[in-house]
Amino acid sequence: MESITASKEWQRLAELRRAWQDRRISDAFDSDPSRAKTLSAEAGGIFLDISRQRLDGDVLDALFALSRARDFSGALTALWRGEFVNHTEKRPALHMALRGEPGDGIGSEETEKFVVEQRARMRALVERIRSGKRFDHVIHVGIGGSHLGPALALDVLDGANPDSDGPDVHFVSTTDPAPLVRLMKKLPRERTLLTLVSKSFTTAETTLNGETLIDWLADGKERAQVLHEQVIGISANVAAMNEAGIAEENQLCMPEWAGGRYSLWSTVGLPVALRFGMPAFEELLSGARAMDRHFRTAKPHQNLPLLLALVGVWNINFHEAPTHAVIPYSEALAKLPAYLQQLEMESNGKRVDRAGKTVDYRTAPIIWGGVGMNGQHAFFQQLHQGTGWAPLDFILVGGPDHGLKSQRDCMLANGLAQAEALMHGRDESVARNEDGDDELLPYRAFPGNRPSTTMLLDELDARRLGALIAMYEHKVFAQSVIWNLNPFDQFGVELGKKIAKRLEPAVSGGKMPDEPDPATRELLLRLKSKGNGQD
Ligand code: F6P
Repeated sequence: MESITASKEWQRLAELRRAWQDRRISDAFDSDPSRAKTLSAEAGGIFLDISRQRLDGDVLDALFALSRARDFSGALTALWRGEFVNHTEKRPALHMALRGEPGDGIGSEETEKFVVEQRARMRALVERIRSGKRFDHVIHVGIGGSHLGPALALDVLDGANPDSDGPDVHFVSTTDPAPLVRLMKKLPRERTLLTLVSKSFTTAETTLNGETLIDWLADGKERAQVLHEQVIGISANVAAMNEAGIAEENQLCMPEWAGGRYSLWSTVGLPVALRFGMPAFEELLSGARAMDRHFRTAKPHQNLPLLLALVGVWNINFHEAPTHAVIPYSEALAKLPAYLQQLEMESNGKRVDRAGKTVDYRTAPIIWGGVGMNGQHAFFQQLHQGTGWAPLDFILVGGPDHGLKSQRDCMLANGLAQAEALMHGRDESVARNEDGDDELLPYRAFPGNRPSTTMLLDELDARRLGALIAMYEHKVFAQSVIWNLNPFDQFGVELGKKIAKRLEPAVSGGKMPDEPDPATRELLLRLKSKGNGQD
């Protein structure tokens, strides 16, 4: 296949980029005041406005042409059909099937059977636990994809249903001892359920924390009894769950064909159902399902994930943006940037293409961000007046104000204001008229022309969250097609894990590894001299 950057579609975009060199977004609004209407689309309760990007209809058409040249629709069909799109691990990527309905035809009959069976098992388990009323607390142990999605969903649903009567859910992901100790001091053993969540069931952090928490629950009791009464396992590795002693009726499966970072829709979503009931979890799935259908059927100009993907390609590959910020104006979405870090950076943070060849173009940017109103009082200074720039996704949330309308309106007004300020900026002459202090003019000028996308959610509930996450999932897939990457493997996480295993004995006061890295060796010696590694 011809190299992507040599293609006529890529070259056309490079030419359009040159034409945008001296053009400002505000000029584009002057010449086409209707662009706020034409450069927007809506689906799944999300209104998407890309009119504040440095682009116009010609750029968008050229981006669509690039996606056609990359056979975007063929890739979509292959994904949905269950072809081995994850070619390095020889498997399909069928996370959409986890939220599908019978008859949707995603993957094979076997795929559907698995989903129906596991959903039924999950429902039965949730009903058993919720109706038993024995547990006030759930400790969910898991990391990466086995943590970030459930944690985000819990925050959002807690915001939408402040009076939920389900158990409190506590997350344990890392092996930082302090939070674990705090939890074990605080929670009543008898009224705490432990869920061990790991696709592989070999992840070191989860195994270690799981063991510690089972011991804590047992507190002199038979471990077998505790495992039977208080421990749930969720994994694709049934043999490992058996080996760990988890009772068969307490096991839920997740499939091999959904990556960890795409697994919220599987039994990994258990804490959502435990706390808010199975219908709430199903609402989450229904929102994602609506976005799946939209992604497959909407025309390019109206297709939210495709638009987001192409705007990203335009910023990353043609305007050379090395980072991308996600700025929700909602505390319930505070964990969204972390969730998207894994989704985008673990999926498309690759430097070789599907054929194993080193690429000569940028791929996934560094994703970062935080709640907008906090950011305004912290990092927004750099975004407005610094030398670097970052494209931003503003996510604004309307809907119920929980009786505090002024606060909610203040949040919305600030989100709107930041997008406007970043785009228009303020030149020195305006600053002179407004502030009248000549000496400070250079300091008070804003260059502007900083692009952003705005998403407006009428409100934030399980369904819209499902749609929002699925929208980003499909954005990542569409970008992987343009960049010719496999977004479903993650070999880059392996090296550090191997080295950590090799170093553990030395950290614990044992022998230095053979041929230690000199810097690590010095650090290990220092740790030892300060008493670390001694019991
Ligand atoms: O180390 C990265 C990773 O493999 C992620 O892809 C995954 O979500 C996480 O670790 C946890 O893996 P598991 O669910 O198998 O414990």
